[in-house]
Formats: sequence, C-alpha cells, structure tokens
Amino acid sequence: MHPSNYRMRLSLDFLRIIVLPSALFHLITTHLIKMHLGFLTALPSYLGFIICCSISKSFLTRMLQHAGRQRSGAKEIPCVRGAWPGNVDILMKMLRAFKTSYILDVYLQLFEEYQCTTLNTRILWTDHIITMDQEHIKFVLSTGFEHFWRGRWQKERMERFLGQGIFNRDDEMWRMHRGNTRPFFARERISDFDIFEKYTARALNIISSTSNQYSGQTPIDVQDLYSRFALDAASEFLFGQNLDTLSATLPVAGKTKMGPKGSATEDPWGSFASAFEMAQQVITARSRVGYFWPVFEIFRDKNAPNAEVVHRWLDPLVKSALGEKERMEKAGICSPVAEKNFLQHLAESTDDSIIIRDQLLSLLLASRDTTACLLTYVTYFMAIYPEVANRLRTEVLEHCGATGSITYEQLRNLKYMRAVINETLRLYPPVPLNVRESRTGCTLPPSDSTYKSSYDADAADPRPLHMPGSTAITFLPLLTQRNKELWGSDADAFDPDRWLEKERLSRFVTNPTMFTPFSAGPRICLGQNYAYNEASFFLVRLLQQFDTFSLAPEAQPVGSLPPLEWKRRKGRQAEEQIWPAAALTLFVKGGLWVRVAREAH
Ligand code: HEM
Repeated sequence: MHPSNYRMRLSLDFLRIIVLPSALFHLITTHLIKMHLGFLTALPSYLGFIICCSISKSFLTRMLQHAGRQRSGAKEIPCVRGAWPGNVDILMKMLRAFKTSYILDVYLQLFEEYQCTTLNTRILWTDHIITMDQEHIKFVLSTGFEHFWRGRWQKERMERFLGQGIFNRDDEMWRMHRGNTRPFFARERISDFDIFEKYTARALNIISSTSNQYSGQTPIDVQDLYSRFALDAASEFLFGQNLDTLSATLPVAGKTKMGPKGSATEDPWGSFASAFEMAQQVITARSRVGYFWPVFEIFRDKNAPNAEVVHRWLDPLVKSALGEKERMEKAGICSPVAEKNFLQHLAESTDDSIIIRDQLLSLLLASRDTTACLLTYVTYFMAIYPEVANRLRTEVLEHCGATGSITYEQLRNLKYMRAVINETLRLYPPVPLNVRESRTGCTLPPSDSTYKSSYDADAADPRPLHMPGSTAITFLPLLTQRNKELWGSDADAFDPDRWLEKERLSRFVTNPTMFTPFSAGPRICLGQNYAYNEASFFLVRLLQQFDTFSLAPEAQPVGSLPPLEWKRRKGRQAEEQIWPAAALTLFVKGGLWVRVAREAH
C-alpha cells in the first residue's frame, strides 16, 4: 500500500482487529454453537472475543519470537514493565515528559532504571526498540545494514512532506537518488568558496547593522540568521538560484513570538520557514504517538497545509528547470555534468516533477537545519565559554589573517576549530535520534560495555540479542556520544582538547562509531565535507570581524528558557542556559538570542 494512504491502512487494521474477529464470533455463536446472545451480553461478549484474539495473536508472536531466539542462540531484548496493561502508563509518562524534560532524558531514565542500553518499550503491545548502544547502532547503520530499512511506518509519517526524496525511500529509489546526488559533493565542487563568501558577507552585514558592531547592544536570533544563511547558500549551490531569505524580515528582540522551532516572522519567508518547521514537528509528534497516530488525523492530514506552502515555493523552480531542459533539447544543446547544477542534473535524469521536487526538498532540509544547528551551538559555546572564542579567534588570525580570501588548505590547518566543531557535534548532534525498521528478525551483537557490571548476571551470558522482524528501532546518537563509559567521566563537559590530545583521541580512533553525527554505513551523510567547509568558512569570517558573544536571555520568547527544575538534575542539564529540543533535527527552543560585538582595538 502506498505510504500516503494512511487512512486506508487504518481502515484495514480496523477490519483486521475489530471486524474480522467480530464476524468470526458471530459465525461461531449463531451457526456453530447456535447460542442466542441477549442485548446486554452481546457487547461484552464481542469485546471479550476481540481482546482474546489480540492476546492470542500477541502470545503466538511471542512464541514465534521465542523459537527464533532458540534457533539463533540469542536472548530477548529487556522489556519495559509498566503498571498498566499495554504499558499505557509509560506512554502517558513519556508524552508528558516530552513537553518539559531535557532532551532525550525520558529515554536515558529508562536505560538507567533497567541498567541496559537497548530496551523494548512494548507500548500498546507493539514491540518498539530503543537503543543508545554503540554496538547495536553500528549494526543497524553499517554491519547489519541489509537487515534494516527506513520502513513502512516512518514512510507513512513522512510521506506528505518528504514524499519520494532520499530520506524517505529505500532500495532502488534510494540508490538512484544517492547515485545522482553524490557527484555534487565531490571535493572540487565543495571547495569553491565563492558561494559561502557571498552569503557569509550578507549574514555578517546583518549582524553588524543590527547589533551595532562596537557595542553589540541589540540581541539577534542567530539560529534564525544561520538558517537563512544555510538555505540561501544551499539553494544557490543546488539550483543556481538563491531563495534570498536573508533579505526578508528578521525577528526582532522582544517583539517576536515563538515559531515551531525558533522565532517566527510574518512575511512570505516567515510562512515558508514556519511551514517547513511545522511539518517536522508534526512528523515528530506522530512518531511519539506511534502506530495509532492516523486515528488523530482521520479527518485532517496535519501536514497537508504545511506541504502545500513548501511546494508552492519549490514547484516554480522545478517547472523552470524542466522547461529549460526542453528548450535545450529542442536546440540540440547538451552540456556536460560539470557545468550543471544539481537541479538541472535531476531534471536530466527524470521528467517526473514530483520526484525532482521531493529530492530538492530533502536536500534543503539536510543542508539548512543541520548546518544552522551546528553553528548555533558553536555560538552558544563561544558565549558561555569566552576563552573558547578567544582561542578560536587567535587561531583564525594566525592562519587566515584578518581579511583576504580563504583557501581549503587554510581551513584544514585550523585544528582547534575542527576540535570545537567536533566537540559541538558530539554534545549536540544535529540529528540526535533516528529510526529504522527491521525487515525480518535478526540478531544484534552483544551489548557494549555500559552497565556491564550491573546487568550482567549477564556478564556470564554475553549472548547477542534477538531483534524481532518488522519492528521499529529508535537509536539515540546524542546519548551514545555523551556516554561516560565510552567517553570517560567528563563526557558531559565541553572540552575540545579531547580531539587534540593523542591519548584521549585514541578512544575514538580505535572505536570510530562512538561518534556518528553524520551517521555511518551506506547511508552516511553525503554533505559531511560540505558542512565542515561551510561551518568553518563562516566561523573564520565571523571571528575575523567579532570577538565577543553573550547570551541575551531577556530577549528569548516567553516559555523558551530552561525550566528551573533542570538545575536540580545532573550532567549538562543542570547548567544548560538554553532549551535544546528536537523535531527531526536539533534546535534551540525560541532561537538563540545573543549580543555579538567587537571590542574596539
Ligand atoms: C552539520 C551538518 C550535517 C549533519 C550533522 C548531517 C547529518 C546527517 C545524518 C545523521 C544523516 C543520516 C540520516 C538518516 O540516515 O536518516 C545524513 C544524511 C544525509 N545528509 Fe547530512 N548532515 C549535515 C549536513 C548536510 C548537508 C549540508 C547536506 C547537503 C547539502 C547533507 C546531505 C545529506 C544527504 C543527501 C543525506 C542522505 C544520505 C542517504 O540517505 O543516503 N547533509 N546527514
């Protein structure tokens, strides 16, 4: 069934779970045992039979899984045991906690409670695996790649927004997208910094003129600014035409409402950004509700209006690319790939305007929110640790001077900057969690060494774990990358030097999948080097011009500062001065409002 047809899926499930058992019960009572049920007994009897069928099915599934485990010599993934049937209390607790708790803390608490790194939440009798286990994440993404795919449920949630783009497809279509996209991230293409130069200059002009360069009096939402910078640069890189969002209305300190992710503006760009972000929030909310989300959207697909706004921006670009292709074909002109932009190249490969649009949208999503997130959190660290900003600036001035063009080699020599970027990606990976689905049952390797002493009675039982078939697995790189067992007791601390000191770095060198901000395996990020270049380039220019960054909590929209109760918790949560949140990608709730200034030298 097509993933967009969630109402049909729900109807078929209704048929399977309610109607078929009812019909069977009717058949048994009226024709086989010829029993007449009275008005008062009919309803409970039917309901009882339906529940019995569900329990039997669940029992049968467990038996089959048990047999599978016996065959493979694997053990069961530990299961959360709630107080209510179907772990409904756990579901309610999670839904409540998502609103106020620290990012992914809900999951961390479960792992701590059960003293293991991979768990089955089994909410509403449906297996759902969550993992922060480095070995299991490596298996899902890389060594056991063929056992997993994005799967039916994820596609169903994302279809209206991401359609047939690379993030929402597997197998043939995914391979086609990946093959088409990869050449556009070849070294020579992404080392041409003209585009970064142009949009960095625009963004920095905005900072200068808004904040009053030497005093930095007026705060600015840099998360919003970086999103515009990343989108304008990516749109020119990908389709040779800039969406020019840096020219649209900017959010104003103290007068800005909270948008779905950051701050909101009321103009055409504001409506695009809002729809773009809202669509991601809707997808996240669907995944929290789980399998039954269509029940809440039976009459209204919540992403239909968001998708419509976003498509209205992209459709004309696609139309014009297809028109240009037709004109070129008529004129008998055929230009080599090297001279084409990504959109032109896509248009060459297919006439299907929907596929082209969906892939374009996926790349805009990939390039805007992730890079903006990285720059936002680097700025956050420069604001709360001024010594980091000073050290970065010293390195920049030493290797790149105060002005002049920047080369790829110069960027490569900025070792401390690379360490700051990596440390930021470790603590705040722009994709903090992700989901895959098992194609069939398979065996996860033995767990990593976290909690080894406590859950192992099992130390004597280091068996692998049985992963049930057609089951979702949510993996949580943010938790893995803050795991003290892997990173040492200071795992929560921001310390770029861990990337520079040989001995400490060896932890990662010998075990690279403990750091996967760009994912791993066959679906590893295609834009990784583009992102490193873009972020480094931007930071060089920023630090050549400015040296002082300070948070402006009074400018944060109401409700976007971290709750006081976080102070009583441990780890980063206790000292957090902003509210990290996630909707497909990580962001700062309400935006990151900072004063950016340059001390008069
Ligand atoms: C700091 C910046 C970035 C981070 C942290 C990041 C992270 C990721 C991650 C975690 C994935 C895997 C997603 C999944 O499998 O579900 C991914 C995939 C991808 N990324 Fe990035 N990304 C970044 C920037 C970019 C940029 C700038 C582009 C392009 C302009 C890009 C293009 C892609 C593409 C096309 C994929 C899909 C690969 C596939 O499914 O085969 N990324 N990225």
